[in-house]
Amino acid sequence: MHPKAGTILRLFRTETGYVSGQHISRELGVSRTAIWKHISALRNDGYFIEAVPSRGYRLVSSPDNIYQGEVTAHLEGARIGQRLEFMKTTASTNADAFRLAEDGVMEGTVVLADSQSGGKGRRGRVWVSPAGVNLYCSVVLRPAIMPHEAPQLTFLSAVAVARAIEQTTTLIPEIKWPNDLLISGKKVAGLLNEMSAETDGINFVVLGIGVNLNMTSDQFPGDLRHPATSLFIESGVKVDRSRFTGIMLNELDRLYADFLAHGFGPVREEWQQRCNANGRQVLVSDSGTECSGGQFIGIDSDGAMLLRSGDDRLHRITCGDVRVI
Ligand code: BTN
Repeated sequence: MHPKAGTILRLFRTETGYVSGQHISRELGVSRTAIWKHISALRNDGYFIEAVPSRGYRLVSSPDNIYQGEVTAHLEGARIGQRLEFMKTTASTNADAFRLAEDGVMEGTVVLADSQSGGKGRRGRVWVSPAGVNLYCSVVLRPAIMPHEAPQLTFLSAVAVARAIEQTTTLIPEIKWPNDLLISGKKVAGLLNEMSAETDGINFVVLGIGVNLNMTSDQFPGDLRHPATSLFIESGVKVDRSRFTGIMLNELDRLYADFLAHGFGPVREEWQQRCNANGRQVLVSDSGTECSGGQFIGIDSDGAMLLRSGDDRLHRITCGDVRVI
């Protein structure tokens, strides 16, 4: 999408009612005839724009597409989304963001795709990524932290996704350790944090965020290990993908600024409040075998789960599947 078309979309969102041709041409720095070219391009992309002589233009409806200009129109943050790479399809936005980061791309760069042919999940799993329905997003960060602290950033993105779900739906998301987002016990989003590091610091972290927004039941494979869902399946209401993406990136921007200023404490606090196991008894299993259990106390600075067993001892759990009992 042409950046000027993105500016027109932003004007439609900030002004109420009709936006005059004169106002648009002033904001864009182009003639009123040139505006017409951008309005036509937007219409070709599926935007329904009404034009009324002597009143101006009004956006009646938008397509359910994630377009660069659409997402940009929602962005408010100083850091995250300053550069935004959008692709119709790619193998994996995480792989793209990783490559860009190796080439020295600025912190806050975001890679978005409408579909992924090789979406990566945790533990080498596949992340099902059909076109036209979900959010597939990767963000490059370059914080001055030690490699063992990098998992803190995944907790940060879990909180950002939870806040975005609350702002765009009436659903109540829960976080399951280490970083799954659940609605009514079913997985709605997953996070994959990848990094490049030296022993004394990290070069960059890529936060991979996948959220099932408008996916329908028949789009999920039948052999999923855990039940999965989408915001649409749970609420019956279609989510505006660009708006969701903008809100989520804005929350990420706020949380990251807070993280840089005050450390992991505030994120950890909110994450724990949102965790489905907070204060409850859990069982941990690895490869199907139950290996540990106790009361969920919280998370450590490296992301390990802290459990208190019946004999009052504290245990650190770094991997496994957690079940609340
Ligand atoms: C999980 O297994 O729960 C993590 C899933 C992470 C999926 C996202 S989609 C965007 C980004 N690109 C990828 O290839 N994976 C992450």
